[in-house]
Amino acid sequence: MSYRVPFIDPREHYRKIKSEIDFAITDTLSKGDLVLRQQLRDFEQHLAEFVGTKYAVGVNSCYHALHFSLLAAGVGPGDEVITVGHTFVATVSAIVHTGAKPVLVDVREDYNMDPAKLVAAITSKTKAIIPVHLNGRVCEMDRIMAIAEENKLAVVEDAAQALGATFKKQGAGSFGLSGCFSFYPFKSLGGLGDGGAVTTNDPEVARLATLLRFNGEDRQTGDFHYHGYTALLDNVQASVLDVKLRHLPSWINHRRKIASLYQDGLNEIKDLRLPHFHDERHFDSYQNYVIRTTHRDELRQHLKDDGVETLVHWARPMWSYEGLKLEDPRLSETSSICREVISLPMSGETTPEQVEIIVDSIKNFFATRQIPILAGAAH
Ligand SMILES: Cc1ncc(COP(=O)(O)O)c(C=O)c1O
Repeated sequence: MSYRVPFIDPREHYRKIKSEIDFAITDTLSKGDLVLRQQLRDFEQHLAEFVGTKYAVGVNSCYHALHFSLLAAGVGPGDEVITVGHTFVATVSAIVHTGAKPVLVDVREDYNMDPAKLVAAITSKTKAIIPVHLNGRVCEMDRIMAIAEENKLAVVEDAAQALGATFKKQGAGSFGLSGCFSFYPFKSLGGLGDGGAVTTNDPEVARLATLLRFNGEDRQTGDFHYHGYTALLDNVQASVLDVKLRHLPSWINHRRKIASLYQDGLNEIKDLRLPHFHDERHFDSYQNYVIRTTHRDELRQHLKDDGVETLVHWARPMWSYEGLKLEDPRLSETSSICREVISLPMSGETTPEQVEIIVDSIKNFFATRQIPILAGAAH
């Protein structure tokens, strides 16, 4: 079905910077630079500068960035790694594939790890923590780092959704042992296909990720140090990501403007919780604009009927999927979130006119169902 307002518009995204992208691709291909060449090194250097770390290592997904980071932290069978129940399954799969046990804790109303729940979940087997900076908002990293230091635990940040977001002016992906990023096409810095990176200040973590992404081989000496993986960030991808990284600050500003237009349009609707959490320490990058309502499924259908495409991240708690073989951690906030959230269109291409259509449609929904709209309600 074609939507009046699509969730994202990859064709428009390409059109806006077509000449720069086309140049990067043809230049890279003309030079025959396909694997582990200058374009990758340039992108890694620019990414590290952007995040605020000494090193960045390009890999082929955030999944691999997480997996390599956990291996670098020495995580393995018999260990426990604490993360949140409200995240993409890849966060948890990375733990499972090290042989460690994932321990899932609940999130707060801003969709991020609750430090109090983290403390309660620590046992003698806990080896690492993965805070997930969801929707473009950094977790409360001062508290999480203090808890980690006190308990001698490694922190691997899942920053797949948070490139460019900060907490106390420090960039997502620069707090812990490492930060893990995704350049999946629909992320704020989206590539041409899968892609990711590990950021770190630790030379050993950078070295390990560099070896593991290329089957354990040290490219300088040709020696194999580990049983590794085939997980490179390809050179053409890196050249395109390097172009897009230059635009990212202005795209994030655009997302923030779109978010405030949504806020202006929707903040009077009582049965709607908006993602504005009034905490000056955070600079949110709005990878997603997530609203919450107890009328989620009807509202989503109404928006669809009005030609507005929305997504739900995620409709079922991951432990409800039998194949994942996860214990039910009984997380009440995560479970309600699964029933109540909708992600509205949000990208560098979303226009104020589109926001107006969406706001009108949502207002209509609540008005025609006589669900009370409370003037001036605080959210
Ligand atoms: C929070 C989170 N973690 C991890 C991932 C995995 O990223 P990738 O698809 O690059 O492996 C994603 C991707 O959507 C994500 O949103």
